[in-house]
Amino acid sequence: MKALVTGASGFVGTYLVEHLTRLGYEVYRIGRPGSSSTLTMLPIDQQLSVNPEDEDTLLRYIDLISPDQVYHLAGFSSVRESWNSPAEVFQANAVNSIHLFEAIRKSSVGGRVRVVTIGSSEEYGKIDASIPIKETSVLNPKNPYGLSKVSLGMLARHYFEVYDLQIIHTRPFNHIGPGQRLGFVASDLAKQVANIELATSDPIIKVGNLESERDFSDVRDIVAAYEALAKEGEAGQTYNVCSGTPTSIKTILESYVSMSANKEIRIVSDQALLRPIDIPRYVGDSTKIREAIGWTNKYTLKQSLLDVLNYWRDV
Ligand code: GDD
Repeated sequence: MKALVTGASGFVGTYLVEHLTRLGYEVYRIGRPGSSSTLTMLPIDQQLSVNPEDEDTLLRYIDLISPDQVYHLAGFSSVRESWNSPAEVFQANAVNSIHLFEAIRKSSVGGRVRVVTIGSSEEYGKIDASIPIKETSVLNPKNPYGLSKVSLGMLARHYFEVYDLQIIHTRPFNHIGPGQRLGFVASDLAKQVANIELATSDPIIKVGNLESERDFSDVRDIVAAYEALAKEGEAGQTYNVCSGTPTSIKTILESYVSMSANKEIRIVSDQALLRPIDIPRYVGDSTKIREAIGWTNKYTLKQSLLDVLNYWRDV
């Protein structure tokens, strides 16, 4: 089985490539020129450079590789940063996806290659979250990132309906794990705890909104879901990828404080970490993915948080 991964050198992509390689896939990555160096586990001839807007080269590579599966992970991933660069977000998440879909539909594998696209729980946005969110929920995104992911989801549907592309759209809720860059809450908090332990900073943790609740999964579980959906998900369908359990950011912070050796930590609220709009609660309903492919989370949140902290203790 041949798998082609866009965004392979990113946080999730690195885990996905490792997972697919372990399962015996022949993995190819497509990345921007200059982004190949971090993926040492792939032979050099399986690392291809192309600008995401360059549809002709994308098409040539797809014809050359003739993949059975495409995982489209490339994109803009930060909700917070999306407020500062809305046009860039749409270029990365929506327009570049059109280039990829066009290349796939014109290729020799067009109607048969299984394509997994990565949306987000941010597609749901501001809705009644008193009950777990189902895939059939109304979409009411409230930030540039969420808007761009709704566009991606609609494009995926369009290319399925009009061109019969075998696209499976996913809506992952928050995912964390070792190696996630700063700018995401678990890494932001864990890094500060690690710095305090190393005495490289005062025992102060700066935080943003502690009241919001999110549905966290481990990145290692998330990539397993993507692979299983590529194999067994129904094309034209959308699947939540989530745990079904909400956790407040305050709880995450308290876990990290309790894991730290330093008991004198002070918490300081940082206005710069607040967002114009922050959705108060996301909790997903995972019934559809469970019934379709039997996927559930294997990593506990406690384990994931500890792994993230240990990562920052070591770097
Ligand atoms: N990043 C960050 N840093 N967030 C903080 C902090 C902090 O120091 N303190 C509080 N928060 C709050 C944010 O305001 C938000 O309510 C919550 O923690 C989670 O923030 P992020 O980790 O930045 O994730 P996100 O929910 O905005 O987006 C992530 O999840 C989406 C799926 O729901 C990203 O991974 C997206 O790419 C993904 O689609």
